[in-house]
Amino acid sequence: MREPSGSSPSTVAVFGLGYVGSVTAACLASIGHRVIGIDNDEHKVQCLNSGNAPFFEPGLEEIIRNCAASGSLSASLHIEEVLDQADVALICVGTPSERNGNLGLDQLRRVCEGIAAVSAQRVKPLIVAIRSTVFPGTCDDVVIPIFAGCPQITVVSNPEFLREGVAVDDFLVPSLLVVGGHDAGAVAQVAGLYRNLDVEGCLVTLRTAEMIKYACNAFHAVKIAFANEIGALSEPLGVDGQEVMSTLCRDTKLNASKAYLKPGFAFGGSCLPKDLRALSYRASRLDVKVPLLDAALPSNQHHLDRAIRAVIDSGGKKIGIVGLTFKENTDDLRESPVVGMVEHLIGKGIELRIFDPHVNLEIIYGSNRNFLLNAIPHISRVLEPRLEDLLLWADQLVVTQKPTPEGVKQITGSKLPVIDLAGAGVARAS
Ligand SMILES: NC(=O)c1ccc[n+]([C@@H]2O[C@H](COP(=O)([O-])OP(=O)(O)OC[C@H]3O[C@@H](n4cnc5c(N)ncnc54)[C@H](O)[C@@H]3O)[C@@H](O)[C@H]2O)c1
Repeated sequence: MREPSGSSPSTVAVFGLGYVGSVTAACLASIGHRVIGIDNDEHKVQCLNSGNAPFFEPGLEEIIRNCAASGSLSASLHIEEVLDQADVALICVGTPSERNGNLGLDQLRRVCEGIAAVSAQRVKPLIVAIRSTVFPGTCDDVVIPIFAGCPQITVVSNPEFLREGVAVDDFLVPSLLVVGGHDAGAVAQVAGLYRNLDVEGCLVTLRTAEMIKYACNAFHAVKIAFANEIGALSEPLGVDGQEVMSTLCRDTKLNASKAYLKPGFAFGGSCLPKDLRALSYRASRLDVKVPLLDAALPSNQHHLDRAIRAVIDSGGKKIGIVGLTFKENTDDLRESPVVGMVEHLIGKGIELRIFDPHVNLEIIYGSNRNFLLNAIPHISRVLEPRLEDLLLWADQLVVTQKPTPEGVKQITGSKLPVIDLAGAGVARAS
């Protein structure tokens, strides 16, 4: 494994001088690196060499002018002219949509094949960092095999998060720095390119880095669609959608926060399903289309179905379920997705027992008790009052809510295979 290069500036070859590549090349040069841009578009290469931006982006022209004048930034049409000197090749070529929505990798393949063609005899190490947006697995399945005959080349993923229109500012004041790869030294070296910026690098695996980029863009798109649907629904109700959303964002504990942003189990309870149903219904009465809001409950059902499938596929003969209510620290069973799961599993003839520290048939009452008895009439036969007894009985555990620290210890100590639906950190494959 190669050691990180410490604090010395690097020579970086930036492949593709479009929106991402030009900004990346210019800004890297402005923070102390020697940068050579490569593009097969002669106009862009000429622009950079003469100190001009190839397109309008606030602040870019000035940086290119200064860096071209100082000699820290130049450009070329020819790989072989520049690659010898480079420590890192940052790949910023386009990955446009194909007709069917799939990602087009032609530019990426071509540029990597071009690098491989001149690198077989290379002596100096080269890190190829993929900055273009590519689907998880692309580096492993497409890029790394292209460099199979180039022992000096190491591949990492270093996705870009800049926004056009504020791209220079986004580069120099980054919201996030992600580098992923199989080689920790190469990952650290690429993260080190940004050491003069105020950002802490997130060093992850190769596929995680690729996936983070998609998660970010999907999240932005979902946020915009959500805000627009709330705005569209507010209008016919005589409500100011701007005020609704800006007030929503003032809650930084539950709304604009990490809350609810961890993969885990399906949602349930007495509020979320009910209120989503009401919103969908009222929107349809108002003739306002809200497909994103409409999709939340079906999405939740698919998630529950995946959990049921995972339990069935585990092949466990005695399924021990930890948690029956819709989340930890409550005895509220209404619309608990676990109840639905248990109903389904019992219907399939699967033998199971359930431990929930807050569900005691002698104590719960009213609608809560009725809901449970209606859904699972024989619940008393399958409720296990002590976690210890459940662990002794079961051959497969399913954790649906975060156990207490003591519970985590007991579950981990039991050495039983665990399906961790709650993201409780107790997963152990069967
Ligand atoms: N534009 C954005 O705001 C943005 C933000 C983050 C990530 N991304 C991702 O970054 C990547 C690049 O996006 P972009 O908007 O800069 O694309 P772009 O189309 O503006 O630029 C791509 C450049 O690559 C060049 N190129 C293509 N094949 C080449 C080759 N074989 N050799 C040399 N140069 C070649 C093209 O001439 C072009 O200048 C995409 O994967 C995109 O999804 C874009």
